[in-house]
Amino acid sequence: MDPSRDNPLIRFTTFWWGIGTFFIFAALLAVIWLFVRPEPASLEDAAAQPRYATKAKIDAAQAANLSPESIEAAAATVAKRLADSKPVAVSVPAQVVPGSDTAKKLAAAPPVDATAVDTAPASADAPIDPAVMASGKASFLVCSACHGQNGEGGPIAPPLAGSEWVKGPVSNLIRIQLRGLKGPLKVAGKDYNFAVGMAALSYQTDEQIAGVLTYVRNSFGNKASAVTAAQVAALRSEVGKPQLPTEELVKP
Ligand code: HEC
Repeated sequence: MDPSRDNPLIRFTTFWWGIGTFFIFAALLAVIWLFVRPEPASLEDAAAQPRYATKAKIDAAQAANLSPESIEAAAATVAKRLADSKPVAVSVPAQVVPGSDTAKKLAAAPPVDATAVDTAPASADAPIDPAVMASGKASFLVCSACHGQNGEGGPIAPPLAGSEWVKGPVSNLIRIQLRGLKGPLKVAGKDYNFAVGMAALSYQTDEQIAGVLTYVRNSFGNKASAVTAAQVAALRSEVGKPQLPTEELVKP
């Protein structure tokens, strides 16, 4: 019997020598593997490798979240919903390019008859829906840039507060917003003549325009009937026409 086997110190060093030798060989193998790794055949292959890796990751993530079974289970419900749905036709307002044939045709079109809009039964005393006023106040933000936060007017626009036009026929207001306005105008006893006039703000929806006009007709001391989305819709064909000349306004 070799007495060194019973020497704990020798046993300890032998153990660590064994471990050390193992790691030396492991490191050697790693270095060899690093140098003799198969090279990608071409630059394209090399560039594609990270993409394949990403694709594998995405595929795995999708498979984990959207298994074919879960898709199959949902398909019947989705198909039924699609079959049962009754989509409503969406009207997309065409863009009118200035100077185009469409713009010229619109400019030459006979003026729309707005009497129906102005004679619509509406009372100034009818209560105004607070929700309409709130939406109108939000839409008024753009108007306030020129007409002032309180409709007081300023160097670039006449006042809306106390304006006979604001409290007057509804069709004027709708057409001003759909076409803009150009020309000299007397507002609350004062003459105004702005070089560029007002630009059309027809991008707002019928509801938004009805809201903002109802808001200006019932704010800053004004009091007049509410404007309805139907009244705005009735004059939508005005969109695309040149700025409304002030002499075409219906007298308040
Ligand atoms: C870029 C500035 C500008 C913006 C924004 C603007 N306006 Fe005007 N507005 C004008 C000018 C300028 C006039 C006078 C045009 C003229 O007489 O040629 C005018 C005139 C008017 C008039 C008739 C005159 C009066 O004071 O009563 C009304 C009503 C009116 N705007 C409402 C609105 C409403 C409602 C909005 C928002 C939806 C709005 N405007 C946004 C510049 C603007």
